[in-house]
Amino acid sequence: MGLSVCLSMLLCLFLKLAILSEIVVSDSFTSLQPSCHEDERSALLLFKESFFIDKSSCVYSKLSEWKSEGVNASNCCSWDGIQCDEETGYVIGLDVSSSCLFGSINSSNGLFNLVHLRSLDLSDNDFSYSQIPTAINQFSGLEYLNLSFSGFIGQVPMEISQLSKLVVLDLSLNYVDDKEFLLPRIYNFTSFLQNLTSLEILDLRYVDLSSTIPNFLSNFSSLTSLRLDVLLSPYRILCHFLRILDVRFNENLTGQLPEFHQRSPLRILRLQSTKFSGSLPSSIEKLDMLVMLSAYDSKFSGPIPSSLGKLTKLTFLDLGKNNFGGYIPSSFQNLTQLTALHLPFTQIIGQIPPWLGNLTKLEHLDLSNNQLHGPIPESLSKLINLGTLNLHLNNLGGIVRFDMFFNMKKLTELQLNSNNLSMFFDKTNASAAAPQFKLLGLASCNLNEFPDFLKHQNELEWLTLVGNNIQGQVPEWMCNTSLDTLVTLYLNNNFLTGFPQNLKFLPWVNLRNLFLSYNMLKGALPIPLPSIMIYDVSNNMLSGEVSPLFCNMSSLDSLDLSNNNLGGMIPKCMGNISISLSALSLRNNSFHGIIPQLSCNNESNLRMIDFSDNQLQGQLPRSLSKCMMLESIVLSNNQLNDTFPSWLGSLPELKVLSLHNNEFHGEIGKPHKELEFSKLQVIDLSYNNFIGELPSQYIFNWNAMKGINPSDSAYLNAEWNFSLLNNYMVGNNEAYKITISTKGVLIYYGVIPEMFAFIDLSSNRFEGEIPDLFGSLKALRSLNLSNNMLTGRIPSSLGNITLLESLDLSQNNLIGEIPQKLKQLGFLARFNVSHNNLTGSIPQGNQFNTFDSSSFEGNPALCGDQLLKKCRNSQFSPPAPSTSEEDYNAESLLKLDWKFVLAGYITGLVVGMVLDNIVFMSRPRWFLKMLPKRISNNLERRQRN
Ligand SMILES: *[C@@H]1O[C@H](CO)[C@@H](O)[C@H](O)[C@H]1NC(C)=O
Ligand SMILES: *[C@@H]1O[C@H](CO)[C@@H](O)[C@H](O)[C@H]1NC(C)=O
Ligand SMILES: *[C@@H]1O[C@H](CO)[C@@H](O)[C@H](O)[C@H]1NC(C)=O
Ligand SMILES: *[C@@H]1O[C@H](CO)[C@@H](O)[C@H](O)[C@H]1NC(C)=O
Ligand SMILES: *[C@@H]1O[C@H](CO)[C@@H](O)[C@H](O)[C@H]1NC(C)=O
Repeated sequence: MGLSVCLSMLLCLFLKLAILSEIVVSDSFTSLQPSCHEDERSALLLFKESFFIDKSSCVYSKLSEWKSEGVNASNCCSWDGIQCDEETGYVIGLDVSSSCLFGSINSSNGLFNLVHLRSLDLSDNDFSYSQIPTAINQFSGLEYLNLSFSGFIGQVPMEISQLSKLVVLDLSLNYVDDKEFLLPRIYNFTSFLQNLTSLEILDLRYVDLSSTIPNFLSNFSSLTSLRLDVLLSPYRILCHFLRILDVRFNENLTGQLPEFHQRSPLRILRLQSTKFSGSLPSSIEKLDMLVMLSAYDSKFSGPIPSSLGKLTKLTFLDLGKNNFGGYIPSSFQNLTQLTALHLPFTQIIGQIPPWLGNLTKLEHLDLSNNQLHGPIPESLSKLINLGTLNLHLNNLGGIVRFDMFFNMKKLTELQLNSNNLSMFFDKTNASAAAPQFKLLGLASCNLNEFPDFLKHQNELEWLTLVGNNIQGQVPEWMCNTSLDTLVTLYLNNNFLTGFPQNLKFLPWVNLRNLFLSYNMLKGALPIPLPSIMIYDVSNNMLSGEVSPLFCNMSSLDSLDLSNNNLGGMIPKCMGNISISLSALSLRNNSFHGIIPQLSCNNESNLRMIDFSDNQLQGQLPRSLSKCMMLESIVLSNNQLNDTFPSWLGSLPELKVLSLHNNEFHGEIGKPHKELEFSKLQVIDLSYNNFIGELPSQYIFNWNAMKGINPSDSAYLNAEWNFSLLNNYMVGNNEAYKITISTKGVLIYYGVIPEMFAFIDLSSNRFEGEIPDLFGSLKALRSLNLSNNMLTGRIPSSLGNITLLESLDLSQNNLIGEIPQKLKQLGFLARFNVSHNNLTGSIPQGNQFNTFDSSSFEGNPALCGDQLLKKCRNSQFSPPAPSTSEEDYNAESLLKLDWKFVLAGYITGLVVGMVLDNIVFMSRPRWFLKMLPKRISNNLERRQRN
């Protein structure tokens, strides 16, 4: 049986707790209190006695008033959590949930004398490692059984399946300290369900059904929240009464929806963040009771079936982030009950249909990240209940009269970013009539100025005007807008020159994230209030010194002052904020003096520092060694004067270290411990005064450079996120950046791919031989040992570094022949062994045919086709057939492209949305879309002198 059978199977398994409460509540109130049977009373007392109730940690235990003596002692029907039958007086309901019961429970427990029970709730207690007792079958009339979250482990007894009256069964969330092997297990799911024909709600989250998983699912052996058998006929029967199917967030759940052959009472179907694929079958129209269909972030494809328009009870439809294509079906006109329509990331084409304006119950409309073109229909202004409208990143065009949104009094979230829209703001129309937005995205909307209506906005929390053509000063009134509420403000990529002059501090008291990069800001640094977390003013023309007021910003997470004209000393107190900081970049300014001590402690989260391209002097602060989370330290192009910081070996996460072009000196020496620097993958010590031998023992430690994981395309960065408006997750990541010399040019990497490894020890005074060990660093892309005093032969082990793109050994005193083995280096684009004392003939063929004389000159005894000195007896070697010209070009194009694309992620903002407690995370591609305008600033290439 194929994978196509999953839905009905799922139908049988996963249900929502929401309904549980209805059922419980419905018969828990009884006015008359019948009297209690003595045998049941003593059974209850025995039950109580069998547990320890930890009063110190317990807010309230229902059992605290169950007493053998005193008021109410005799009538157990009046005890908390007990419900008796009004006529017979037998206990029919027992609810001891969340009662701090601690202890084990077995089949001889007094509980099992309560044979008239119809409802039993033991949830949220601690039956520490008990199995569910087999005596559970004593309760033959049981309709409701809740054993969730109470520490049951091991085999679920088959006896449960004798409880044929069960309507609700909840065995979920019985996991103990993440010990998967202790999870409750059902060995034969088929037979387990066989007799439970009344079941309506079944919750088996964290129940292990793996023993019944057929082979084809065994790849997902770590799936704990849901493990499923292949569909067998009993489950089909079960599906006919299912109302809710909720399998969200089972990331490993694969399968396709089956054809639906008959109507079904299913009301809620949630497949969000699973790996369901294939198309939505047209027969989905059979599910005509459906009110909610959510398949966000799954793998469905094909057109959106027109038959969905027949599900006229739908109020919530979310098909976002799949591979759906085509148009929005016109049958959706009939979905008049819809309150939420989400179709983002679906490759939807065509225009926004004007009839959408008829769906007046809509509160959320998200068509973002598609390929919609044409205008925004004016008819949308009829959607007066709309709270969220998201159209960002489409190809919408034309003029938008912004007052079309003024009727939508409930509209709090509007995103029009990154289309080809021109906005028209009618200044005669009172712009005070605009709805009060909380979230407003007008990035790349061709704005030339701050829109007037912003004057009257008092509730903005998130505002982006990124990538417009706004020029000059931020107007004074703008600094009076949403003073108390604004949390996030993006003004980057405009032509702003500054803030009003009389403004001492930025006025927004709750501002946490401020993005002003890529403007033309002049003068002193705008000073935010201490609430600030992310402050990015990079790539402006700011000057003056950094105010010590920045030291008071104790929540600061990322501070990016790079590429400005700031000067003076780095304030000494700046070291204090290294506790909250994740990322600190002062790159490319004119700071001088020493680097202050950083007061890192156990809680410090500092992941990257970049002080490169300044005039910093003196020694490195030894306190750096206490910033245990540091992954990237970039100090290149300063005048730092110190010995090799072997003490940084204590940083377990260090991946990037650049000391390029400073005054470091002395021998590198040996590591103190075995694993020091083992995660290092980029090291640049070039242009310093290091002496002695190449550091073989360190090379031995550089484990990260030995592994290759070609599938990994992510890049090194510090990442963090937080929630906003209670609805959004906003994340930010600060990519580590570095300028390195490879293939003969300096290249600024706005991002460093996770799998990238790079060594530059050039232009020092290293001597001795090149250790064979370099050959073990298989992830290396570039190795530069040029301009030292190295002697001996070129180790043929270098031919093992198959990913190597650049190898520079020039300007040393190397002897011997160029090893033939280097011909294996299929990606080698740059090779330089010039100015050594190499002898013999240059290897011919493969990549070597692409290198010209400059790679080899200055070796008087070297001969080859590339040189004037031809080899005698040299045989003609044809170009190797393996690397065709075309392939090679494709490869290099791909790589170039890759650099550009990744550079676009420099400000990798993540915005997600939480609806109905679902977190929708997405990276807004509009950021990428609007970056190329300035991308050349990020990717600077300088020819080396
Ligand atoms: C299901 O019910 C049948 C008939 O009552 C019974 O013979 C069988 O043992 C039951 N199966 C299980 C697993 O309890
Ligand atoms: C599970 O039980 C059913 C019926 O009770 C039986 O047909 C099937 O072979 C059993 N499966 C396994 C794996 O034992
Ligand atoms: C899904 O599979 C991956 C890889 O086997 C595993 O790491 C992950 O924990 C699984 N997820 C769940 C929710 O089981
Ligand atoms: C809407 O529903 C009616 C009644 O079922 C049907 O006749 C009509 O064709 C539907 N409209 C669209 C556009 O599908
Ligand atoms: C729906 O919208 C269309 C186009 O905007 C309009 O012509 C039609 O009259 C509307 N139908 C209803 C029932 O409002």
